[in-house]
Amino acid sequence: MEIKKINSIDTYPVRHEVLRKGKPIETCQFKGDDDENTVHFGLYQNERLIGIISIFKEKNDLFSETNQFQIRGMAVLEEFQGKGFGAELVKEAENHCISLNTDLIWFNARENAVPFYKNLGYTTIGDSFLIPDVGIHFAMYKKIRKN
Ligand SMILES: CC(C)(COP(=O)(O)OP(=O)(O)OC[C@H]1O[C@@H](n2cnc3c(N)ncnc32)[C@H](O)[C@@H]1OP(=O)(O)O)[C@@H](O)C(=O)NCCC(=O)NCCS
Repeated sequence: MEIKKINSIDTYPVRHEVLRKGKPIETCQFKGDDDENTVHFGLYQNERLIGIISIFKEKNDLFSETNQFQIRGMAVLEEFQGKGFGAELVKEAENHCISLNTDLIWFNARENAVPFYKNLGYTTIGDSFLIPDVGIHFAMYKKIRKN
């Protein structure tokens, strides 16, 4: 298993298969994908891209912390789910954010993924909300402690 930085366009096959199945490929492009503070990581097994995570420098007004990052596009190909790869990707994203003195990581989690993130120390905040065409979500966050 290897995790490395990838370009936004390299995330599309996995975004499409896992997060935007049956939808036009253009829906795999996220606003801010190519901003200078945005980073995409890909997890490879036997040189095959099987998981992705993207990190955007984005402040959510729910939180007062100055230096916030948002996780988006978290996905592991179905046949590789439940093997710990998703957790490895979140840890890689956290290490990246820690290296940039992040105070807080947040994201909008799909309802089905909430237990996965809780397992990694994230907390929900507020009520669920509907993202059209995608489903019910919860805002979740974790404060990153500096030593
Ligand atoms: C959610 C997702 C990214 C998790 O990745 P994954 O590789 O399957 O998860 P992992 O195997 O790393 O799981 C890590 C831990 O979380 C737990 N977990 C994972 N998914 C879970 C779920 N849906 N419910 C409860 N626990 C879950 C695992 O059991 C594991 O626990 P353990 O360490 O005690 O064994 C992946 O399943 C996925 O791509 N799902 C579809 C797309 C999606 O929902 N993305 C998130 C959008 S917000």
